[in-house]
Amino acid sequence: MTTVRRKSKAEPAPPTTLFLFGAHGDLVKRLLMPALYNLSRDGLLNEGLRIVGVDHNAISDVDFAKKLEDFLRTEVANKVGDGATLDPQRWAKLAQGISYVQGDFLDDSTYSALAAKIAASGTGNAVFYLATAPRFFSEVVQRLGAAGLLEESPEAFRRVVIEKPFGSDLQSAEALNGCLLKVMSEKQIYRIDHYLGKETVQNILVSRFSNSLFEAFWNNHYIDHVQITAAETVGVETRGSFYEHTGALRDMVPNHLFQLLAMVAMEPPAAFGADAVRGEKAKVVGAIRPWTIEEARANSVRGQYVAGEAGGKALPGYREEPNVAPDSNTETYVALKVMIDNWRWVGVPFYLRTGKRMSVRDTEIVICFKPAPYAQFRDTEVDKLQPTYLRIQIQPNEGMWFDLLAKKPGPTLDMANIELGFAYKDFFEMQPSTGYETLIYDCLTGDQTLFQRADNIENGWRAVQPFLDAWKEDASVQAYQAGADGPEAGTQLLARDGREWHSLG
Ligand code: BG6
Repeated sequence: MTTVRRKSKAEPAPPTTLFLFGAHGDLVKRLLMPALYNLSRDGLLNEGLRIVGVDHNAISDVDFAKKLEDFLRTEVANKVGDGATLDPQRWAKLAQGISYVQGDFLDDSTYSALAAKIAASGTGNAVFYLATAPRFFSEVVQRLGAAGLLEESPEAFRRVVIEKPFGSDLQSAEALNGCLLKVMSEKQIYRIDHYLGKETVQNILVSRFSNSLFEAFWNNHYIDHVQITAAETVGVETRGSFYEHTGALRDMVPNHLFQLLAMVAMEPPAAFGADAVRGEKAKVVGAIRPWTIEEARANSVRGQYVAGEAGGKALPGYREEPNVAPDSNTETYVALKVMIDNWRWVGVPFYLRTGKRMSVRDTEIVICFKPAPYAQFRDTEVDKLQPTYLRIQIQPNEGMWFDLLAKKPGPTLDMANIELGFAYKDFFEMQPSTGYETLIYDCLTGDQTLFQRADNIENGWRAVQPFLDAWKEDASVQAYQAGADGPEAGTQLLARDGREWHSLG
C-alpha cells in the first residue's frame, strides 16, 4: 500500500484550549465530542488539550463532563471508539481536561472568564469553535476581538471555527466575512463544511489526480453531463424553526453540493496545500454561469413534501411538522441546472438535486459519458446503446463504480450493463467516525485545506443568488409525497434535455 501524507498525521496536535460555544447544543454532543474522543483513541490529541464548554445554562465542570459521557455511551456509541463501547480509561483522560464556563455570549464578562481559562491552561494556543445559532457569529467574534483574545504571538495561535450556515445570501455572507476580517486575518478563520470531512469527498481529489487515466476523459469531449444528488430520508422533524427560513437550497447547495461540484470540476492544484486547493475551488465555482432571473426560474425546481409513507409507516407532510407555518412555501427539495463556463466544462450541464423525505438516503455523483459512435452496431440487433457512467457514492455505501457495456455471452450480439467497482469496505478497515475528526485535527494543527476561504463562500452564494432572486417573485412549490423521489418537475428538468436522473439507491 502506498502512503502519502499531506503532513505527518502521527504527531499529536499541539496543546490548546478548545472553547465550544453552544456547549449544550446537538453538534457538541453528537459530533464534536465523539470526534474528539476518536482523535484521542488514535493518539492525535495532546495531553495539554483543554476542552471548555461555553453556554448560558448553569452546570458544574463535573456534571458537564458526565452529561457528555452519558450521551456518548448511549446515543452515539456506534460512532466512537471501537464502535461498541467507550473505553473508561481513555474517556477519563479526555474528561480531566473538560470544564465549563457559564456565560451569555453577549456579555463582556463571559470573555474575561475565557481569558482567565487561557491564562490558567499552561498554553496560549486557543481555538474558539462557534457551534451556535448563526445570529451569534459576528457578535461573538467582535467580542473575542475586543477582549484581545484573537491576538496571536509567535508562541500562541488563536483560531475561530465558524459553522454553517455562513450567511443567507451573497450580501449577508460578504457582511459576515467583512466583520470577521476586521478582527482577525484569513489564516485564523476556519469556515467549516462537514462534507469536506468525509473520506469519500477527499478521495475525489486523490482519485482524480493520482490516476492519470481519469484526466484523459475528464472533460467536455467525453463527459455528457454530471449529476450530483444528496437525497435524505429524514424529514425536517424538530428543526422547523431553523428550516422555515433556510430551505433546501440555502441548507445544502452553496455549501455541501458546491463542495462536491468543486471537487469534481476543479483544475489540478499545484500542490495539496491550502492555498493551491482553495484557489482552484474558488476559480471553478466562480466560473458557474450567472443565470438571469428568467434563466434561473427555468433551470430550477422547488419541491415540498406532503404526507406520504415509507415502509408501511405514515409520514407527515412538511406543513404538519412542528414550528412550520400551515401555508409555508419553504422548499424541502431543489433541483438545479448549472453551467460552468471554462475550457474544460463548457457545454456540460451539472444537474444538482437534494431533498428531505425521499425514498432512500443516497449522496452520489454520477459522471455520464457521451454515447459511443453507433457505426459498428448498425444493422445489428442492438437498437440503442445504454448510457455509461462513473458513479461516486459519497454515502451510505461508499465507493466508486464504472457502469459500462459488455457483450452478454451467447451466439447473438446482446449487450448488458456491467459494473467495475471499488467499495471502501472491501479494501480498508474503516474505524467508526463522525466525519469531524480530520477537520478538528486540521484546525488544531493549522491546516486550512479543508476549510472554506472567504472567496469560496462568496462565489458559492454568487452562483445561487439568481435562484433566490427568482424565487422572491414566485415562491410556489411543487408537491411530492414523503417517501418518493421529488416532484415530477424535477424529472422534467432533465427530460427536456433528453436525459434522466440516475435511479436512487
Ligand atoms: C446539514 C444540513 O448541513 O447537512 C442538514 O443542515 C442535512 O439539513 C445534513 O441533513 C446532511 O449531512 P449528511 O452528512 O447527513 O449528508
